[in-house]
Amino acid sequence: MSRQQHFGWFLARGFGPHGWGHPYLDWNYRWTSPELYQDSVRTLEQAGFDLLIIEDAPSLGSPTTIDLRVRQAFGGPKLDPLLLAPYLFAATQHLGIAPTVNPAAYLPYTAARQFATLQHLSGHRLALNVVTDTGSARHFSAAPQLGHDAAYDRAEEWLGGVRDLWRSWPEEALIADPARGRYADGSRLAHTQHRGEYFDFDGPLNAIPFTDGEPVVVSPGGSGRGLGFAGANSDVQLALAPMNEASVRAYRARIRDAAIAAGRQPEDVTVLFAIQPVLVSSAEEADRLVAASHSPSDEKLAVIAEKQSSDLETDLTALDLDAPLDITVFGDHVSHGSIRRLVGDHGPDAPLRTILAGHARLGRLADGTGWVGTAGELADRIEEYGTWGNDGVLLWGDLHPVTVHRTLDELVPILRRRGILRSEYAGSLRANLRPF
Ligand SMILES: Cc1cc2nc3c(=O)[nH]c(=O)nc-3n(C[C@H](O)[C@H](O)[C@H](O)COP(=O)(O)O)c2cc1C
Repeated sequence: MSRQQHFGWFLARGFGPHGWGHPYLDWNYRWTSPELYQDSVRTLEQAGFDLLIIEDAPSLGSPTTIDLRVRQAFGGPKLDPLLLAPYLFAATQHLGIAPTVNPAAYLPYTAARQFATLQHLSGHRLALNVVTDTGSARHFSAAPQLGHDAAYDRAEEWLGGVRDLWRSWPEEALIADPARGRYADGSRLAHTQHRGEYFDFDGPLNAIPFTDGEPVVVSPGGSGRGLGFAGANSDVQLALAPMNEASVRAYRARIRDAAIAAGRQPEDVTVLFAIQPVLVSSAEEADRLVAASHSPSDEKLAVIAEKQSSDLETDLTALDLDAPLDITVFGDHVSHGSIRRLVGDHGPDAPLRTILAGHARLGRLADGTGWVGTAGELADRIEEYGTWGNDGVLLWGDLHPVTVHRTLDELVPILRRRGILRSEYAGSLRANLRPF
C-alpha cells in the first residue's frame, strides 16, 4: 500500500472573476454569487480533500498600475474571502476552508472574535492563511510600510495576541449546567493584557472555548524568515519548490528544524507542496501539447505578457516582442528576484519574445520535466513524493467546477485505489490533518 497523503486546493486568483478569459465563462455562473464556489467545494469534499485555501490581496496595488491588474482580472478585482467562507462551510461538512488574512487588516481582538465565530459555526473547520504582504499598508493607516522581516515580526505578535485571546476562556470557564443554574464562571477568565510593539489591547475575548482546537494556521512564506514563522506558528506550510527528491527533503528538513528550534515537534507542521498539473486524456495528447508549447502563437504570448504585466506591475504588452527587454522598464518598484524569475537564464540580448516563450514552454509529467500528462502519470508522481516522506500536495488553479472536474474526475479514483487519498474524514480539520 502506498503512503496516504493530504490534499489541498489553492484558489490562486482569489475570490475574483472566475472564468474570465476562458470559454467556461459561458457556463453562466456569476463569480459574485456563492453557487459557483459551493459547487466546487462539494466536489473537493466528495474527492476527500482536506482543505481549500483562498488566495487574497486586499489591495489593487500601486495607483499608477491598477489598470494592469484589473484589465484582464489577473490581479483584481477581488472580494474578501473571509466573508465567502460561511457559504462554503454551509455547503460542506468536512472540508477545511482557509481564507487568506493579512495581520495589517484586522486588529487582534476583532480577528480573534471573528475567527472564533467561524470556528464554531463551521464545526471547527476554519484555517487561516496568514500572509505578510506589505504593499497594502496605505489602505489601513498612514504609518510607513514595514520591511519584509518586520512584517513577519508583526504577524507573529498579532497571532500570539489572537491566540492569547482565544485562550482567555479556559475550558472550565464554560459550565452550561442547568442543574447548577450557571452558564459560565467569569472568575476563571484570563484578564489578557497585551502591550506590544505593534498592538495594544485588553481581553478577555467575548466568545466561548473551542471544543476541537483552535483554527488551523497556514503560512506560505518561503524565505528564511518565512520558514522560521512557519516552524514557530503554523500547522500547515504551503511550499513552492522544485519537485525532486533532494529539494523536497531539504525543504521539509528546514521546516522541521524550524519547528524544533521553536520548541515544537517536527510533525506539528504539515507541508503541502504546490503543484499545477495540466491533465490530458492520453500520453500522445500530452506529447502533442508539449511539442506545440515550443512554438507559442502571438496570442498565447500576449496572454503571458498580460499576466506578467499584472504580477510585475509593469506594462510588457506595449513593448516590441522582437527587441531585447530593457530592464529599466521595471524602475525601482519590482524586486530583483521577480525580474530574475521573468528573465530566467536568458542573457541581456534576449528578445522579449524568447523570454515569454520560455514561460509558455510545457514539460511532461512522465519524465519529470513538467506538469502535462495523464491522471495516471500524476498519480505516479504523487505516489513517488510519498516515498520521500511527503505529507501532501496543494493543487493550484481556479475553483471553477469545470477546472475541478477536469483535474479530479480520473485522478481521484486512481489515488483512492492506491490508498493515497482518504475515503473518510475525522471530526475536525485539526483531526483530519494529523499525520497518517
Ligand atoms: C502557495 C502560496 C500561496 C500564497 N498565497 C498568498 C496570498 O494569498 N496572499 C499573499 O499576499 N501572498 C501569498 N503568497 C506569497 C507569500 O505570502 C509571500 O509573500 C511570498 O512567499 C514571499 O515571502 P517570503 O519572502 O517569506 O518567501 C503565497 C505564496 C505561496 C507559495
